[in-house]
Amino acid sequence: MTENEKLLARREAVVPRGVPRVTTATAVKGRGAVITDADGNELLDFAGGIGVMNAGHCQEAVVDAIRTQAGELLHACFHVATYEPYVELAEKLATLFPHHREGGEGTKVLLVNSGAEAVENAVKIARQATGRPAVICFSEAFHGRTLLGMSLTSKVTYKMGCGPFAPEIYRVPFPNHYARGEGHTPEAFATRELNRLRETFQTVVSADDVAAIIIEPVQGEGGFVPAPPGYLQGLREICDEHGIVLIFDEVQTGFCRTGRWAAYEHFGVIPDLSTWAKSMGGGLPIAAVIGRPEVMDAARPGTIGGTYGGNPVACASSLATIRLMEELDLNTRAMEVGDRIRARFEALAERTDVVGDVRGIGAMMAMELVEGGDPHRPATQLATAVTLTCLENGVLVIKSGPSGNVIRILSPLVITDEELDRGLTVIEDAVLLHVGAGSEAAVGATA
Ligand SMILES: Cc1ncc(COP(=O)(O)O)c(C=O)c1O
Repeated sequence: MTENEKLLARREAVVPRGVPRVTTATAVKGRGAVITDADGNELLDFAGGIGVMNAGHCQEAVVDAIRTQAGELLHACFHVATYEPYVELAEKLATLFPHHREGGEGTKVLLVNSGAEAVENAVKIARQATGRPAVICFSEAFHGRTLLGMSLTSKVTYKMGCGPFAPEIYRVPFPNHYARGEGHTPEAFATRELNRLRETFQTVVSADDVAAIIIEPVQGEGGFVPAPPGYLQGLREICDEHGIVLIFDEVQTGFCRTGRWAAYEHFGVIPDLSTWAKSMGGGLPIAAVIGRPEVMDAARPGTIGGTYGGNPVACASSLATIRLMEELDLNTRAMEVGDRIRARFEALAERTDVVGDVRGIGAMMAMELVEGGDPHRPATQLATAVTLTCLENGVLVIKSGPSGNVIRILSPLVITDEELDRGLTVIEDAVLLHVGAGSEAAVGATA
């Protein structure tokens, strides 16, 4: 038995099967964009611990900040004693993500431990701010695995048998132009979908009962699907018209992934509340709700927070990670990384019609694999085979999308061009290998 196999066997014996195991990789050590497994093999990390390692594994500045803070104060509970790392991180986030309206000032920040917890708290805050119960969310959305997070999450396999789910959740189709565009331009499609949302207020739930609309500006687990142009602006207008709190879930999109601190910057729309986690902590568990002060302060004392929220060591890690992102200008790097991935995926799409769509913003790039170029025939098995072959060839890459047929790239942004190109070649070769072996799709079908 290899060391990898031994570790996996120990896992199987003691860890419940409900905890997803999406690859057979193991990890002992991480540096930059490389993970070393239990057998000493080096893997190029194209998954980044699901979007957490934008700034790279074990960056010295981050590890030093963690060590230093650990030697000073591990925990005090911010409810009990105020400590500076929490306040400093909140100040930094308020500067990076100002949420106040024109002419207004001040942005407030709540720190919690995970993306799901951030989502839970954003909804609690929106309900208190509006005095209304309902929340509108989207098909293919992913907002976490707490009960409310799961209730807002779309994909059934994430929530099977876990109900009853939280009430007053209303789901509308995400404006996925590739899957549902039906020949409309992205702009016309956005208008049609906004009109459908307005109809929802007549037929499904009254706008007067809606506390919040929550949306990922670019869906993550849903398959790296950006909202079409004009859609988020339209949502902003609808929310303003009806006094609804607009929440952007930036847990996967945030902190340089799309080439900006926030994906919403690409769309020119500022939400009332936003949720953050993953790469914000540089590897330690920390998350945030950021929002307009009048909305954030609507939450009554005692209704938000938690024992560990904004732990000092996690705050120090986050502050050091953000500093590093600034120093390395990871937003610019994300655009370069994204351009390189897009060019390679598009070139692959020229060679085989199984690559139905290449999409994303910045380094949040993906390709959707389909049968015969048909958006409605997901090539799920092919995508799985591709990820397995990649792992055998030293590249850790994961899928997303409701049918698990989207190959997504979440590599650290500090990845070198050489590493990126090498990993992309492994992915390309894996697709071509399996297409060549498959019956339905053929290499060169569109050439
Ligand atoms: C958009 C989005 N929201 C929320 C979550 C949940 O975050 P966590 O796993 O930290 O609870 C995720 C996790 O993938 C996510 O992608």
